[in-house]
Amino acid sequence: MPFQTVFFLLLLHSLSPPSAADSSSSSGLCHPDDQSALLQFKNSFSDPKPFPTWDPKFHCCGWYGVECNETTNHVIGLDIATSDLNGTIPITLPNLKHLQHLRLHKLPNLVGEIPPEIGQLHHLTYLVISWTNVSGPVPHFLSNLISLRYLVLSFNCLSGFIPPSLPTLPYLYAIDLSRNHLTGPIPESFGHFPESAGPPALDLSHNMLSGDIPASLANVNFSEIDISRNSLSGDASVFFGLGKITNTIIISRNNFEFDFSKVTFMEDLDVLDISHNKIYGTIPSQIIDAVYLQQLNVSYNRLCGKIPTGWKLRYRSEIWDNSSFLHNRCLCGFPLDPCQ
Ligand SMILES: *[C@@H]1O[C@H](CO)[C@@H](O)[C@H](O)[C@H]1NC(C)=O
Ligand SMILES: *[C@@H]1O[C@H](CO)[C@@H](O)[C@H](O)[C@H]1NC(C)=O
Ligand SMILES: *[C@@H]1O[C@H](CO)[C@@H](O)[C@H](O)[C@H]1NC(C)=O
Ligand SMILES: *[C@@H]1O[C@H](CO)[C@@H](O)[C@H](O)[C@H]1NC(C)=O
Ligand SMILES: *[C@@H]1O[C@H](CO)[C@@H](O)[C@H](O)[C@H]1NC(C)=O
Ligand SMILES: *[C@@H]1O[C@H](CO)[C@@H](O)[C@H](O)[C@H]1NC(C)=O
Repeated sequence: MPFQTVFFLLLLHSLSPPSAADSSSSSGLCHPDDQSALLQFKNSFSDPKPFPTWDPKFHCCGWYGVECNETTNHVIGLDIATSDLNGTIPITLPNLKHLQHLRLHKLPNLVGEIPPEIGQLHHLTYLVISWTNVSGPVPHFLSNLISLRYLVLSFNCLSGFIPPSLPTLPYLYAIDLSRNHLTGPIPESFGHFPESAGPPALDLSHNMLSGDIPASLANVNFSEIDISRNSLSGDASVFFGLGKITNTIIISRNNFEFDFSKVTFMEDLDVLDISHNKIYGTIPSQIIDAVYLQQLNVSYNRLCGKIPTGWKLRYRSEIWDNSSFLHNRCLCGFPLDPCQ
């Protein structure tokens, strides 16, 4: 998935935890306030085993998962991943006053709600809490994180409604709330991302969202949108349109019902999956202008008519499997049976 690619690149560039070998070399003196805040973090868990290198004998900029600014030696990143760390998200985190990057990933025994103290991390640009058993709502106080660019809360046990205040954040351009138990509609405010943030990538897939797609979403120049596997309804044609830069549109497995004949396809489209809905009409011949298309799936809908010919694809891909088109009302032509 492109979303994961962006995430991964960002991670590699901004958050490479120093290895044990680094700690002896140039990691510099850890700021004492930050060192005590890190020890508070560690000690808030009953079993500190996951922090073998977190020893005051060594400079904390060399501790596992800790990233410091090389000029100021302040801790700016914390990356705790893949451990059996047992407990809740420490409420002492704001004592790391300069924290910009926080990732808590693959911690199955991390439980409880996201504490309000997280809302005090005003320098946070990058927040990832993923693959944990953290529950409760996606908190509205996340909209206090005025520097936030990148928010990933996927693969948790979060429930409740999506906070409408998230798009007030001036730099937020990536939101991944996928694979939780979120309910309710996509807020109308998600049609009003600030331009300062750049084209947003939004992943709300694998939740229990319902209601019609707000018409305001037609205004948004998404870079990527995945809302698959929900119970959303209405007119998802708002995501399409010439001139947008969207490269991924995945709206499969919802209750969308709209006329596909009227849709126009952006040139950058790379992945398009509208399968398992109630979408009707024909496949517009203008789709052949989507020259970068590599994955297409319109199966399990109510489409009719001739599948366009004359594709100008840059990458000869395997999308011409008939499974991309099967189970529609009366689609015909290659790679299905010839039209009568
Ligand atoms: C480190 O801190 C200095 C001084 O505040 C700042 O100019 C620089 O951009 C910071 N570097 C990073 C990687 O945050
Ligand atoms: C985590 O804590 C709970 C309750 O405090 C305890 O029952 C469980 O055994 C702990 N798990 C581990 C892996 O330490
Ligand atoms: C949540 O906890 C359950 C039970 O311990 C575990 O099987 C599951 O993998 C955990 N979920 C995640 C995403 O870590
Ligand atoms: C979408 O964004 C691109 C690049 O920023 C811009 O060139 C284009 O005009 C925008 N399209 C719409 C419909 O806003
Ligand atoms: C789909 O293609 C496969 C392999 O070419 C073929 O065996 C199958 O009969 C086709 N199914 C339909 C419904 O056209
Ligand atoms: C299209 O989606 C259907 C339904 O989920 C799936 O069975 C099929 O394998 C998909 N085809 C392609 C080419 O992705």
